Amino acid sequence: MKDAVFVGIGGASGVCIGVRAAKALSEHVRVHLSFTQEAALIAEREGVSLKDWPPNVVVHHRCDWSAPVASGSYRLKGAVIAPCSMGMLGRIAGGVSGNLIERAADVALKEGWPLVLVPRETPLSAIHLENMLRLNRAGAVILPPVLTFYHRPGAIADMVNFIVGRIMDCLGIEHSLYERWDEV
Ligand SMILES: Cc1cc2nc3c(=O)[nH]c(=O)nc-3n(C[C@H](O)[C@H](O)[C@H](O)COP(=O)(O)O)c2cc1C
Repeated sequence: MKDAVFVGIGGASGVCIGVRAAKALSEHVRVHLSFTQEAALIAEREGVSLKDWPPNVVVHHRCDWSAPVASGSYRLKGAVIAPCSMGMLGRIAGGVSGNLIERAADVALKEGWPLVLVPRETPLSAIHLENMLRLNRAGAVILPPVLTFYHRPGAIADMVNFIVGRIMDCLGIEHSLYERWDEV
């Protein structure tokens, strides 16, 4: 069976990060994808399409509890939520699975699979930070989409590729999305 990864897109700014991650991952593994209603709304505002996925991307409705990724008996190489809103972060930290994305994250944590969360908010409150610490202690990787300059990005797409490359690093998937730091 082909390796599979779950990608969830939450209702935060930066929907393009999740879309890029799903497309880049689909070149290596099967991608199960789901997005929330708020994500769809924000995608429209940000001019990002949530249609026309590559054949290796399977889209699940956010309330499809019978999707394979809702069960730990379906093996996943890992799960990514990009972007992850503070609401979704809080629900995952509290073990509340209100939709398929939160359930997939819950499953990844209980099964001990890599879970990469890309939280998008600034500045962060003590509640946000405590939720992130709680999730990190439970095994999740907290990977905020911070700005990077040392690789000299020429466009927003270069910064997005850098973040997606770091997500793929966490999942142990080889890529050439950014140039690695090395001795000069
Ligand atoms: C245009 C827009 C941008 C938003 N950006 C963020 C954001 O960056 N981070 C965040 O935590 N919430 C953001 N929100 C608020 C969330 O969408 C809202 O809390 C929502 O209930 C979370 O949705 P989710 O559970 O689907 O992630 C934004 C809302 C809108 C309309």
